[in-house]
Amino acid sequence: DTDDLACVLAGARLMPVLTVPDADVAAPLAAALVAGGARCAEVTFRTPDAEQVLKAMAAHGGLTVGAGTVLTPEQAERAVAAGARFVVSPGFDGDVVAKCRELGVPVVPGVATATELMRALRAGVDTVKLFPAEPLGGLRTLRALAAPFPQARFVPTGGIGADRLTDYLAEPAVVAVGGSWMATSAHLERGDFDEIRRLTAEAVERSAP
Ligand code: 3PG
Repeated sequence: DTDDLACVLAGARLMPVLTVPDADVAAPLAAALVAGGARCAEVTFRTPDAEQVLKAMAAHGGLTVGAGTVLTPEQAERAVAAGARFVVSPGFDGDVVAKCRELGVPVVPGVATATELMRALRAGVDTVKLFPAEPLGGLRTLRALAAPFPQARFVPTGGIGADRLTDYLAEPAVVAVGGSWMATSAHLERGDFDEIRRLTAEAVERSAP
């Protein structure tokens, strides 16, 4: 349930966000993330191969793999069938949340405003993705949004890099930070798994409590 994901996030404090064009790189990518010390990863549903990537990464072992950019209940079903252990969405959709409940999988919907956060809380979700964190105003916005909702926990994501990681993680309402900087499309195109491992290890080290 949601508590399981909260535990994973609280332990990992870091959510690599992966947009993987080709299922062939899933295994070396998973290996690089595990070697760098990552504990979980979000595979976005933005590429035709996303389900295959998810399956392969989940099968690799060593990582709690979930699905990201899940926009519809139907995608949530496909994600869970492919082995997703959690579901992340860029925004809040009540039907996606309800479907995840039905499937028994934790869901982290995105919020950008107090209204969206109120919807999420009323739907019984207390861990949300603040998205897109940096364009929204970063920490200043996160603090202002967190103040009226002491029960809410945030996974800020969007425009965050290694340089901002520790500042976000120092915030009590922040349970983990998400981002693609550890494994970008450019890294994957070049097959630069050494760099992915290095950036992951650096981020893991910076996110240690
Ligand atoms: C996501 O889907 O969570 C974002 O694309 C990640 O944001 P970033 O690429 O700016 O890190």
